Order: sequence, then structure tokens, then C-alpha cells
Amino acid sequence: MTTPTNSSSGLGNRNAELPQEQWVENPETGAKVVKVGDMEFPKRKVWMHTFGCQMNYHDTERVLSHLENLNFEQTKDQQEADLILFNTCAIRDLSNQKFYSKLGDTKHIKKKNPDVKIGVGGCVAQTEGKELVKKYKHLDFSFGTDVIDTINELVYRSYAGEDPFAINTWDRSQNFSIETKITNGSPQAFVNIIKGCNKCCSYCIVPFTRGKEKSRLQKEVVEDVRRLVEYQGVQEVTLLGQNVNSYGKDNGESLAGLITELDQINGLELIRYTTSHPYDVTDELVQVHGEAKKLSRHLHLPVQSGSNTVLQRMLREYTVDHYMGLVEKLRKAKPDIVLSTDIIAGFVNETEEEHQATLDLLDRAQYDFIYSYAYSQRNKTRASRWEDSLTDDIRGARLREIQAYQAKIQEKIRKELVGQTFTVLVDGHGFMGGEKKWKGRTNCMRIVHFLPEHQEHDLQWHWVEVEVTAATAFSCQGKLKKVWGRRMPEQASRY
Ligand code: 5AD
Ligand code: SF4
Repeated sequence: MTTPTNSSSGLGNRNAELPQEQWVENPETGAKVVKVGDMEFPKRKVWMHTFGCQMNYHDTERVLSHLENLNFEQTKDQQEADLILFNTCAIRDLSNQKFYSKLGDTKHIKKKNPDVKIGVGGCVAQTEGKELVKKYKHLDFSFGTDVIDTINELVYRSYAGEDPFAINTWDRSQNFSIETKITNGSPQAFVNIIKGCNKCCSYCIVPFTRGKEKSRLQKEVVEDVRRLVEYQGVQEVTLLGQNVNSYGKDNGESLAGLITELDQINGLELIRYTTSHPYDVTDELVQVHGEAKKLSRHLHLPVQSGSNTVLQRMLREYTVDHYMGLVEKLRKAKPDIVLSTDIIAGFVNETEEEHQATLDLLDRAQYDFIYSYAYSQRNKTRASRWEDSLTDDIRGARLREIQAYQAKIQEKIRKELVGQTFTVLVDGHGFMGGEKKWKGRTNCMRIVHFLPEHQEHDLQWHWVEVEVTAATAFSCQGKLKKVWGRRMPEQASRY
């Protein structure tokens, strides 16, 4: 016999279809199980692998947090998992291939243990979920990007014995309302403020995998962040959206307004946001970069190409001059702002001249770092319908040229950091040359590695001051100068 204890907290969008989860205790064994209707969920383990962007990592957090209410705990060992989940990315073919190979590997696990459940979520599930379930007989279910918060219902249905199914419906509700979930106890949190993307860049699959833009109300986001800061010890938030600069357009609100409000929250130390579209960077937002005390002085501003004709074919809605005008305005508002960007090498029919224009732009913009990718043709996108004269070899060569060119610029910028002291929130450690080194990001997103005062010193999630002692294009080494502790005191420099 089992006796009810407390019911689940049911944070976030509860699902009307799923009967309330109830924690019950077996009086003989003392084991806690979750009852959902007539079904019992004993303690089980979930293994989840995430591909892609920060939005996907954020969604994974949500899934794992919901699953705690069904008595699942996370495991890093796939072999001991009762439930195996993938959160997939469709943005480039490479991440697709990695996912298919990992999914193939799970066939053997299912063969050994048919009780294991396997589910695929995210962007690939949104566009190809039905085909996936048909093709991979060992798959139990797939779930798209807009049904993340119904994961418990889907897992329940699978355990109830339903045949393999695929759900990729869009959430039709007017509002986008969620509560941020964190499961790892860190002072850094991702807060999703807008979903979807209304742009139609000709290369990009995101509008098909993430749907139309929908923003949360500013009031809700501010309350959410206040709660994270007050009750969960969060000190740094990253505001997330596929096109975060469009935030609030649907409700007459704005990203600039939201940041200004969040800047007032006591106990919150650092605000970041990603990812930006240059078209939607308003003068008001530029001004906020100069004024908000807690806003990071790093901004990721994807340009994609330095050629006007390529930008036109990409349907990016801006010119190089417009982009460089923004860079100038931002540097005027915040002279020490640090910029990074995304570049696509070898877009459809890119000429050598167009490619050279991207190298010129790197010179002009002086980015601190870039993410660069070879163009990858994606189904459904406009660019996938165009004849393309470029070969993969040319794309690869141009990508390498862009990376080598940027490395030189970066090396010069990074060398100038030597001798400067930065405040860093320590987020982990590793071993370098047999020595334990801690690492963290500066306010402006540079990762710095440094030795502790003594090897047993646990600095995880401490604010410290570190002087940069050596720097290459891709790494910064530093010397620990001061340990502030888990809270940054008033007198600490934000840099
Ligand atoms: N091929 C290559 N890179 C792409 N990106 C988006 N779509 C593609 C594609 N089809 C890159 C862009 C974007 C980043 C997240 O991924 O640079 O900013
Ligand atoms: Fe990948 Fe884009 Fe989906 Fe993120 S939103 S997971 S980058 S396809």
C-alpha cells in the first residue's frame, strides 16, 4: 500500500491532459514513487544529449526539470538510463549527421533492454519527427520545439503503452508565458524572453523549426528574474531569443525597456542577451548599452557577410554601411564595448570578390572573436532552391582563410589585455600540464584560466580578480589577485 505525501509543484505550463502527479511513499520500503492516475512512476534515470544553440540547452533544462516531477533523475551514463532523450539541432548538416549517428547507436541499447524508452526532441523533431518515428523502429516518440513543456504527458503516454508517436504542433495561445527552470544550482541562468523568428534569411531553417515570434510580457520576465535572484541565488542572466532584438514588438514593449528594468534588481550582477539581428538594434538599445550598469560590455552581433550583394541574397535587410554605422554608434555609447559575430563562408554563388569583402569587414570591425561556418544547404529554405556554382572545397578553403585572418586580428586584440585586471565569475576548472587551473568569463566574455593560491582551494562560483599574464588568439592565462567570494561586493570592479 502507498500513502500520498505532497503533490508536485507543477511549475511552468501544466498540461491539462495529464492527471496531477502525486508523490506517494511505500510504507514498507519507504521508497517514493510518483502516481499519475493509476500509473506509478518509480525512481528512474534519464540521459539527455543536447545539440545546437543556447536555446536548446535552455530547453533541455526545462525538460529535465519537468521530469523530476515524474521521479526521473539525470544520469551522465547512457548505459544505465531508463529514458534516453536527444534535443536536436537542424541548423547545419553536420549537427544533423552527429545526431543520426548517435541515434543509430541507441538501437543496440534498446535491443539489450526493450524497456528503455527513447525520445527525440527539438528542431529536427519539429520538421522531421513523423518520418523519424516511421524510419527508426526503436524510437518511442518525438516532440517538437513548441511542446517542450508537455514532456511529462508524452513520457506518461509512452509508459502507458502507446504506439510510437510524433508531436510537432505549434502552441496557438496568444501569450507566451513560462517560468524559468534551473536544475543545476548555478548562479548563471538562461531566461527565454522571446521564441520564434519572423525574419526570412534565405539560408536559415530556424523559422521552420521555431515558428513565429512571440514575446513574454516584460512584467512576467522581471518577476521571473527577481524570483531567480531572490530564491535561487542567480547573479547572471542571459536573455534568450532567436532574434532577441524583436522582443516586445508584439506587446508594445522593447528589449531596451526590459534591460532598464532588470538593471534595477538588487543582487543581480550581470545581464547578457543573445542573439541579435542588426536590423532590429534601435537607438534606444544603443543608449542602454551606454547607461545600464549591469549590462555586459560584450555584444554578439551576427553580420554573416561583408558583401552587400551577399547580404542581399541572404535577405538580411541591412547593408555593410548600416552595420558599420551601428558598430560606430555602439562604440560611441560604450567606448570599451567588445564585439563578436557570426560569418557564413561560401554562401550560394559567392564570388572571390564577395569573399574578400568579408575579410575587409573583419579588419574594419575588429571583433574579439567570431563563429564561422561553411554554408550548409537546408531543406525548405529559399537558398536551397537556387543553383549553386560553389564546391565544398571552395567553401572549406574560404572558411579556413576567414579563420586564419581573424586569428591574427584576435591575437593583436588579446595581447593588449596582458597586464589588465578583470573580475571573473569562476565557472569550472581543468588540468593544464598536470596543474589544476580554474577558469571563468570576464564581463566581456573572455575566458581566463588561472592557478588557485593552493591546489585544494575550491573557487567554483566565486567572484575573483585576475590579472592577464599571457594571451594568444584563443586563450588567456591569468594570475589570481583577489578572491571576493560568492557575492560580488560593492567595491569590486565590474570589469
Ligand atoms: N549554413 C551555415 N551556417 C548557418 N547559420 C545559420 N544557417 C546556416 C546555414 N544554412 C549560422 C549563422 C547563424 C548561426 C547561428 O548559424 O551564422 O548566425
Ligand atoms: Fe539549432 Fe537554430 Fe534550432 Fe538552435 S534554433 S537548435 S541553432 S536550428
